[in-house]
Amino acid sequence: MTGTADPDRYTRLLERLEANEREFRRLGRSVLRVQEDERRRLARDLHDGIGQNLTALKHRLAQLRDSVGAHTPLHDSLEAAIQLCAGTLEDTRELSRLLRPPILDDLGLEPALRWLGRSIGESAGISIAVEIEPLPPLDGERETLLFRVAQEALNNIAKHARAHSVLLRLVEREGQVQLQVVDDGIGFDPAATAGGSGLSGMRERLRLFQARLEVHSAPGDGTRIRAVVPLQGL
Ligand SMILES: Nc1ncnc2c1ncn2[C@@H]1O[C@H](COP(=O)(O)OP(=O)(O)OP(=O)(O)O)[C@@H](O)[C@H]1O
Ligand SMILES: [Mg+2]
Repeated sequence: MTGTADPDRYTRLLERLEANEREFRRLGRSVLRVQEDERRRLARDLHDGIGQNLTALKHRLAQLRDSVGAHTPLHDSLEAAIQLCAGTLEDTRELSRLLRPPILDDLGLEPALRWLGRSIGESAGISIAVEIEPLPPLDGERETLLFRVAQEALNNIAKHARAHSVLLRLVEREGQVQLQVVDDGIGFDPAATAGGSGLSGMRERLRLFQARLEVHSAPGDGTRIRAVVPLQGL
């Protein structure tokens, strides 16, 4: 019977392929879960360990500074050390928040996206508007997925776009959540892009949720990215 099509055989093969694909996505998502747990732990350790020690160090240095005469070289050195400590403390807190923002676990996606927009907007000097329509309840993994996509898109804008204004929108359409990020910056040619791992990482992450990424951009014409995430089935 060689050479004769056997519909049952094809169906079985197809089913096996689909089962393998589902298993691949399930494993990929559990790797992401482990990575996020690790980030949560690291973020807490940074905040509670190094952060609290730096706070204590800053207080001790301030006590020392106040115990020596003002306008002496030692006073000025201690003041400089306190400033260094304060800067390092701020950097440590910022790093801890970016690793895994507590607001995402405590309050959910919407407040976390608003915080992200404010925080990247302020540090990059860009106006970032965040519009979120009423959404059905999302599970924690899809919330994390959408947050990480938004984070990479906004970081890209801060790093590359030279944009003045940005709009981040989150809406639900026909059983899919759509995250859109639009900037009025310098744009780029998506087909010619090499190098970074941000966009490809986003795509791979989305694929594990049967979601897709659309990137529309051209030099001089800003950039629009859209992630479309199905709410059902995995
Ligand atoms: N919003 C944007 N405006 C202009 N150029 C962009 C924008 N987003 C991405 N790009 C371009 O696409 C390239 C690839 O982006 P990608 O996020 O994959 O890498 P990266 O940001 O350079 O590095 P990484 O994300 O790994 O730190 C960037 O180097 C940049 O040239
Ligand atoms: Mg990037």
